[in-house]
Amino acid sequence: MSETPGPVTMDKIVSLCRRRGFVFPSSEIYGGLGSTYDYGHYGVLAKNNIRQLWFQAMVQERDDIVALDSAIILNPAVWEASGHVAGFSDPLVDCRTCKLRFRADRLEDAQCGRKPSKRPGETPDCDLTEARQFNLMFQTQVGAVEDASSTAYLRPETAQGIFINFKNVLQLARRKPPFGIAQVGKSFRNEITPGNFLFRVREFEQMEMEFFVPPADAEEWYRYWVDARFDWYLKYGLREGNLRKREHGAEERSHYSSGTTDIEYLYPIGWSELEGVANRGDFDLTQHTQFSGTKLEFVGQDGERYTPHVIEPAVSIERIFVALLVDAYHEEVVADRERTVLRLHPAIAPVKAAILPLIPRNEDMVTHARGLFDELRRRHLVEYDDSGQIGRRYRRQDEIGTPWAFTIDDQTLEDGTVTVRDRDSLAQ
Ligand code: GAP
Repeated sequence: MSETPGPVTMDKIVSLCRRRGFVFPSSEIYGGLGSTYDYGHYGVLAKNNIRQLWFQAMVQERDDIVALDSAIILNPAVWEASGHVAGFSDPLVDCRTCKLRFRADRLEDAQCGRKPSKRPGETPDCDLTEARQFNLMFQTQVGAVEDASSTAYLRPETAQGIFINFKNVLQLARRKPPFGIAQVGKSFRNEITPGNFLFRVREFEQMEMEFFVPPADAEEWYRYWVDARFDWYLKYGLREGNLRKREHGAEERSHYSSGTTDIEYLYPIGWSELEGVANRGDFDLTQHTQFSGTKLEFVGQDGERYTPHVIEPAVSIERIFVALLVDAYHEEVVADRERTVLRLHPAIAPVKAAILPLIPRNEDMVTHARGLFDELRRRHLVEYDDSGQIGRRYRRQDEIGTPWAFTIDDQTLEDGTVTVRDRDSLAQ
């Protein structure tokens, strides 16, 4: 077995996802809708695994974190308090010639609409407007009357739903800092330049955890979560050489942050943020206390009283999904034939094992195979496949990352054993 040379490009990942039904462009029969995607069967299964493994690490295996599922549309005052109405914006420029829009701070990464080899503004024909701030929140209207008082927003992050429930959880879950609240759910951002497949999309599923700590312990917990989240990626198979921690300089940090570290992955587009871990200080609880009039603080039995500081690991399933696919994608030559294989960690793989009757026309083999399939499917996500040559069926499973195949053959009919094929070593 030998690896074929060549980098893993985003195009290869997109093509595999489409070919094997992981991900489709959304609204495709109507010409699509910029950078939105629908997930097919294997995409849903892989996303479920990522979500469940995150939840397992963040909630199930810990005594100090509880779950929450807050609404997507919140009282608009939430976004005033959080600073999103005033400041969640990117600088935007329009080109009057090609009618494209660009982020003013990312012109060096963009292509001119008329001459893609040039940057916007580089050709004499380019006619860029002055930069103006463009708010990334999607607006909507709540209720039947459309006026300023009914304006609301699709949440651009899940975090604020957690902060506004701080008091509920503190009282009802009887928690005392340090403790955390974890939430998974859709977030929406009207990105000016979405792209690179699922890396930057307008609708994505965030997994955020806000960890409330005594102010004096904030720095220690911040370091703890950077390391814990980094190790989580290693546990599920991302290669260490493709991961790094990058601490933001003061000029790069968000207004609320007193420390931020990006866990970056070496995507085909270069090193880019996979997950962010931020030390948000007391910014959020203080803002919501001011705007709502409800005191969001911790009061101990001994009268001790303080506003907890918040450490926040935040990531989207989309960014994890792309990183896992890129890391797992291999093209190799086996016995003079090329195969594409996803070497996904078994816990991430959408299908855990394939059950294959060697000769689909042989009724005994089919009966045995269906019997094994029915037994295994009660506890595992397994797939039965009797269509086409066995080699083709193996290739199909390799491409969706199925770690094992159980083949029912003559030997099975003789002694009840099955042939087990290992995806990575091809040992049988
Ligand atoms: N609550 C903090 C927050 O939302 P962020 O850095 O804006 O911080 C956190 O987003 C994470 O959400 C990012 O690290 C990334 O994993 C993911 N994310 C943000 N924007 C995204 C987009 N447009 N498409 C896909 N994932 C995105």
